[in-house]
Amino acid sequence: MIFSLFKKKHDQNEEGDAPSQRFVRPMEPADITHVLELIEEHDEDDANEAGACFDDTLQGMFVAIDDGKIVGVTGADAEPETSDIAWLSWTYVEKSSQRQGIGRYLVNGLIGELKNAGIRKVFISTGDYVEDGEDIYAAAKAFYYDLGARLEMKIDDYYAKGEARYIYGLDIEEPVNVEPPAQSGNLIFDGLEEADESADGVLLSWREYNPQEDSAMDPAQKLTEYLDQARLEKARFIGAAIPFDLSEGAIKGLKKKGFVQVGELKDYYAPGIAQLFWQIITDK
Ligand SMILES: CC(C)(COP(=O)(O)OP(=O)(O)OC[C@H]1O[C@@H](n2cnc3c(N)ncnc32)[C@H](O)[C@@H]1OP(=O)(O)O)[C@@H](O)C(=O)NCCC(=O)NCCS
Repeated sequence: MIFSLFKKKHDQNEEGDAPSQRFVRPMEPADITHVLELIEEHDEDDANEAGACFDDTLQGMFVAIDDGKIVGVTGADAEPETSDIAWLSWTYVEKSSQRQGIGRYLVNGLIGELKNAGIRKVFISTGDYVEDGEDIYAAAKAFYYDLGARLEMKIDDYYAKGEARYIYGLDIEEPVNVEPPAQSGNLIFDGLEEADESADGVLLSWREYNPQEDSAMDPAQKLTEYLDQARLEKARFIGAAIPFDLSEGAIKGLKKKGFVQVGELKDYYAPGIAQLFWQIITDK
């Protein structure tokens, strides 16, 4: 697994090689309690969810240590659909240590390690939840922008009605300017799955069309069946996240059903092959 390449990192002082008091190292089981307290300082629900993830694995997680104390946490999850992109995961800096460059130091350390592991791009997902008139992720968005990440897609009403999902892309490798490939194949929708972290949103799952196995199937009828099922299950929206190169036939079907393309993630499946996101908001 790629993250086995991560190693302890030390900052250098001005003279040369002696380590300073601030460094980033892989998160260890003994850190879990402290890291969860740090996350809980920001959000109790996030701490509970993070705790469940940490029970599974700490792979890809890092902590920032300052003067012997954990002051921040970050991590990345490899994207299973591709071999060379990742998603930024739990990223928090303790409140009393914010705006001292720790978040930047921590995530830049992570990015260096991801680069060594062959990851060419990181995506970052966040929301626009408003509490007491304030976007609680405003600081995070300013922080991502400072890191060099740029907004690639906004999906309205994703997490809940009125609460959008924002996805930022951060190139680790300079993107190679490749022409998008010809739309050479096709996909068929083959089921419904819950949209990640969304209340009542579902996604159409898909696989590549195989002329030998699938010739008897009517893709348009399949799509109709899945949409009927989603409506029956009272899905608030139905989404389709599909690769550009296999999308020609699927797009015709989606358009006929009233879907609209809300955006795309560049170079997602491979350089030049975007992930397109199509969506229909249903009347529940
Ligand atoms: C987002 C977060 C990790 C940033 O950590 P940090 O250590 O305070 O960030 P840094 O000091 O490294 O800031 C780097 C740059 O990001 C931007 N930035 C960070 N916090 C900001 C804020 N509150 N308002 C505006 N810009 C901000 C600035 O450009 C800053 O550079 P500057 O201080 O030289 O102006 C921290 O605010 C945090 O833990 N927030 C709560 C958790 C969270 O929202 N995580 C993301 C979940 S989606």
